[in-house]
Amino acid sequence: MRIESREMGNGAASLAALRFVCASCGASAPATGTRFRCACGTPFDLEDLTPGPSPARSGEDSQHRAGPASGFPLPRIEEQVRVGATLQAHFHKRLGVALGSAASGVWRYRELLPPLAETFIVSRQEGNTPLYPVGAGEPGAWRAIGAYVGVERLYLKHEGENPTGSFKDRGMTVATSVARTIDAQAVACASTGNTAASLAAYAAQAGLPALVFLPAGKVAGGKLAQSIAYGARLVSVSGDFDDAMRQVEAVADQLGIYLLNSINPYRLAGQRTIAYELLQQLGWQAPDWVVLPAGNLGNTSAIGAALLHAAEIGLIAQAPRLASIQATNADPFYQSYAAGWQSFSPVRAHTRASAINIGAPVSYARARAVIEATNGVVAEVSDDEIFAAKARIDRAGIGCEPASAAALAGVRQLTSAGIIAPGESVVAILTGHLLKDTEQITPEVSPGENQQGDDLLRAIEATLRKLDDK
Ligand code: F0G
Repeated sequence: MRIESREMGNGAASLAALRFVCASCGASAPATGTRFRCACGTPFDLEDLTPGPSPARSGEDSQHRAGPASGFPLPRIEEQVRVGATLQAHFHKRLGVALGSAASGVWRYRELLPPLAETFIVSRQEGNTPLYPVGAGEPGAWRAIGAYVGVERLYLKHEGENPTGSFKDRGMTVATSVARTIDAQAVACASTGNTAASLAAYAAQAGLPALVFLPAGKVAGGKLAQSIAYGARLVSVSGDFDDAMRQVEAVADQLGIYLLNSINPYRLAGQRTIAYELLQQLGWQAPDWVVLPAGNLGNTSAIGAALLHAAEIGLIAQAPRLASIQATNADPFYQSYAAGWQSFSPVRAHTRASAINIGAPVSYARARAVIEATNGVVAEVSDDEIFAAKARIDRAGIGCEPASAAALAGVRQLTSAGIIAPGESVVAILTGHLLKDTEQITPEVSPGENQQGDDLLRAIEATLRKLDDK
């Protein structure tokens, strides 16, 4: 079987062939629609984007097995290997392309994304983020991070090094391109800050008016500054992210504004590329674990689905286990997991990691499905654990925003609980940039103010001694 390298299609015509499907009741709707919830209330998924044979396409039902979480059929092993190898070759060829959508670390994986016309693509060469080796087994000072969590082979995938400083750009390039394809007149989101900053930038590039609903007083300064500077209209909502989310869904529905939260399946399609890219960076040798912070659960769903998909089509031999980390007091997903998935109750969220201060996650059901299918785990970490982990990442010269550090705090907790074994390989996703949220950074030691000459020298000497002691 042959997988042609995909040229970008003719936009709306190719999207018209796609459907949104409801995992709960089986209903479906055209994927060019602007409603992302089924009439039964469940958020829609985008139908299978898998290239390669399926019973419907090949008529070989008996030779296919059912896929674990996605429900779509698997090709036979030999076909998986061939599909995987062909795709790897396409992805490899695009490395080093300098211009056009193929230069993007999202659109590099276009065979696994919705088919869109090149002319509608709104891209800033997003993705292409570094994978930093920080395991205890590495040479150099970064090994202190691996030693802190007790893992020999540890990598930090720094999604904060995207154009607007967070992983949101990956989903935003896809969903904004769809907005242009279907000729949306305006775009909107609710946000704890990063989605808003990303939407504001991509909407500006697409020439679309942007509305961002932000919980008043709860968004970090750097993110707010981005949204304002990129020209979005701010709607300040009294309450928290969950209140803002409810409001924007209602307003978008009534006014026909295209919603760009992760309830939009095209956002999740783009975020899947975090997984494809990290696997490519590891030479398609999957790690044992992928660990990430969790709030609205869009990223958990997207990355989990992508890891399963990668194994299903033979890009990797086996999907890694996924660990989704919440902040204590913003942890409804963890509470449900700890109760054996018997129940799910939203909470009033309260964590200093403002990006994940979310109590009613939209993607609960799909996130649960991928945790179960990857034999994954959910954990919660306290704000103190988050800030201790952040200090390690910052001091190594890498840096990240508080919510991102929940991933490293989670690795540490899972290692000390014996769930992650010291010999296993781990990729932790850093979701946002250090400069996003600097309000919580305090100097550990500083020479006294207003000192000059010898006094200043002595103060600096004393400071260096204190640093040496650490
Ligand atoms: N890390 C960062 C830095 C985030 O901004 C977010 C979510 C998450 C982790 C959690 O990802 O929601 O997919 O589980 N930020 C959203 C926003 C809610 O509005 O920027 P999730």
